[in-house]
Amino acid sequence: MLQTLIKEMGVLILAVFLGLFPFNLALDNGLALTPPMGWLTWQRFRCITDCEKYPNECISETLIKRTADRMVDEGFLEAGYNYVGIDDCWLEKERDAQGHLVPDRKRFPNGMKAIADYLHDRGFKFALYQDYGTKTCMGYPGVLGHEARDIQSFVNWDVDYIKLDGCYVDKAKMDEGYPYFGKLLNDSGRPIVYSCSWPAYQDNPNYASIAKHCNLWRNWDDIQDSWSSLSTIMTWFGDHQDEFTKYAGPGRWNDPDMLLIGNFGLSLDQAKVQMAVWSILAAPLLMSVDLDTIRPEFKEVLLNRDIIDIDQDSFGRQGSRVWNKSKCEIWRRKLSDGSYALAFVNRRDDGAPYSIKVSFDSMKIPNQAYEVIDLYKEEEERSFGPEGEFETRVNPSGVKFYKFIPKKSNEINRTT
Ligand SMILES: *[C@@H]1O[C@H](CO)[C@@H](O)[C@H](O)[C@H]1NC(C)=O
Ligand SMILES: *[C@@H]1O[C@H](CO)[C@@H](O)[C@H](O)[C@H]1NC(C)=O
Repeated sequence: MLQTLIKEMGVLILAVFLGLFPFNLALDNGLALTPPMGWLTWQRFRCITDCEKYPNECISETLIKRTADRMVDEGFLEAGYNYVGIDDCWLEKERDAQGHLVPDRKRFPNGMKAIADYLHDRGFKFALYQDYGTKTCMGYPGVLGHEARDIQSFVNWDVDYIKLDGCYVDKAKMDEGYPYFGKLLNDSGRPIVYSCSWPAYQDNPNYASIAKHCNLWRNWDDIQDSWSSLSTIMTWFGDHQDEFTKYAGPGRWNDPDMLLIGNFGLSLDQAKVQMAVWSILAAPLLMSVDLDTIRPEFKEVLLNRDIIDIDQDSFGRQGSRVWNKSKCEIWRRKLSDGSYALAFVNRRDDGAPYSIKVSFDSMKIPNQAYEVIDLYKEEEERSFGPEGEFETRVNPSGVKFYKFIPKKSNEINRTT
């Protein structure tokens, strides 16, 4: 009895020592235990406010309702995309006489509580954008100096998620400002996911503090609708991964920004790259696309359950770039079931599919026998290991995404 207890305590102390339970790091609101999934207006719909000229695209109640309906009908909600969010440009340019934020009267004629009700009735959660500065990035009123009053508005409107941007404020102020706003959110008593843009505005972000106060945070530049933007973000995340990968875990996530999938700038191969690498990074999966016009092959990428499962793996351990050479790279993530997700990305643009042949060492996985499953189902399942090199052919600006599942025979081999 006592021996078992001592043994268990030893394991616990060891686990704490190894940082397996970094409980003093996480924002303890019980939310975002896996990376948030959903849909946000910004990347596709930006700050379109002219509903007469662009009735299908303006940031409005209509856009939110039709998107939520589509998400239900087309299986997005069921697949896990359960946050629907309004980014910048939802406000009137002035606060009211009592200093309250006012949603745009024409575009949100029934106010924000009506949006929340519509979403909640269908099983969604409601995400809303604000900015820690005096103004939002597009020039609408920001929260600075009105923090408590604005949080009261969010609570009255049943908001479930706040994305707090960082325009129009001194970036040195953020190290205190973001935690302060987070404390007020906590004091409100309403569970609200807290998404911070804090590190994106700073040169040497204090990730220990950020991970303690935010559920997710935008590390770097805004994504734009192009392969070059996506490519630049992947390079930056690979080059800087040692600074922040370790802070990710249940309740706290690095955010490389929204999914471009289904819009104008990415080919199907490039869309598959983003979905694969984002799931390795345990990134929030926030679509921003017109669901009335998205082509079926892009919808299929967004709804790939095997890849969603990798993103949402309960371990919450973020993967990283483990190898790069000749404009090709391998991104790897260890999963809770003992298997590995491995994305082979080809960034070359010289034509034919490129052959990558690598050792266990390059892939950073143990030498053993695996069942290898192609997550985009372009190839048959195959066996690999316990020796040899793994070979695959990857399209230009494309990806091969595999799950390496250790074979049962490995255990038998070990015990015999
Ligand atoms: C506030 O913080 C406490 C302690 O960290 C936590 O237990 C609680 O769930 C939080 N409440 C909200 C509404 O975020
Ligand atoms: C490859 O790795 C090197 C060294 O880590 C890095 O400087 C470079 O930017 C990487 N290239 C790409 C395309 O990721």
